[in-house]
Amino acid sequence: MIELAPSLLAADLLNLESEIGDMLSRGVTRLHFDVMDAHFVPNLSFSPELCAAVKARFPECRLDVHLMMDNPGKYLKTFAEAGADILTVHQEVLPDARPILDAIKALGVKCGLSVKPATLADTLTKYLDMLDNILIMTVEPGFGGQKFMVDMLDKIRLLRAWGYKGDIAVDGGVTLDNARQITDAGANVLVMGTSFFHAQDRDLVVRSVKELS
Ligand code: DX5
Ligand code: ZN
Repeated sequence: MIELAPSLLAADLLNLESEIGDMLSRGVTRLHFDVMDAHFVPNLSFSPELCAAVKARFPECRLDVHLMMDNPGKYLKTFAEAGADILTVHQEVLPDARPILDAIKALGVKCGLSVKPATLADTLTKYLDMLDNILIMTVEPGFGGQKFMVDMLDKIRLLRAWGYKGDIAVDGGVTLDNARQITDAGANVLVMGTSFFHAQDRDLVVRSVKELS
């Protein structure tokens, strides 16, 4: 099954309740929630308080939390208590990701690792058996609306060739034009910020992603 995960960063920030309600009404339940610390990436975004507010209002919404931060270990419990369903941390800030992945699992949350464009897929091999989610960045993290880096698809092919069976999500510049290429490479989760929340026809986006399955 190919899944769409709209990225909240591109939603109408003054109308989050109606934006998330609209997403759910279209049968889309996985919401990508970017957390930026202004150190790991040159931008700031969403807090645990917002995460908790979304979960309280929409318990059926599955919160796919992408922690773009230098020190994710410090915030795992906070985000788990705020209702995160998936916690994805960046490989680049973790000399050994195992303790953090174990800590996420111990909180009863699905665990993920993400790699920036310059980080090789090989750096993930030793964790494959414990990961629920791998998030392949196809732009430099920090901002929505950037151009998709097609070379990153090789990482997905490698991961599947190595036998990884969990979710592979792709984040950054994903559109209806490159979606088929991405899923053909072996990814099964499409994070879409601009392409979902700024779409003229959101139904068309949902339908088109469904047809990729
Ligand atoms: C970028 C974020 C993305 C972003 C994607 O660092 O991690 O989730 O919202 O936005 P689009 O889909 O517009 O490239
Ligand atoms: Zn993201």
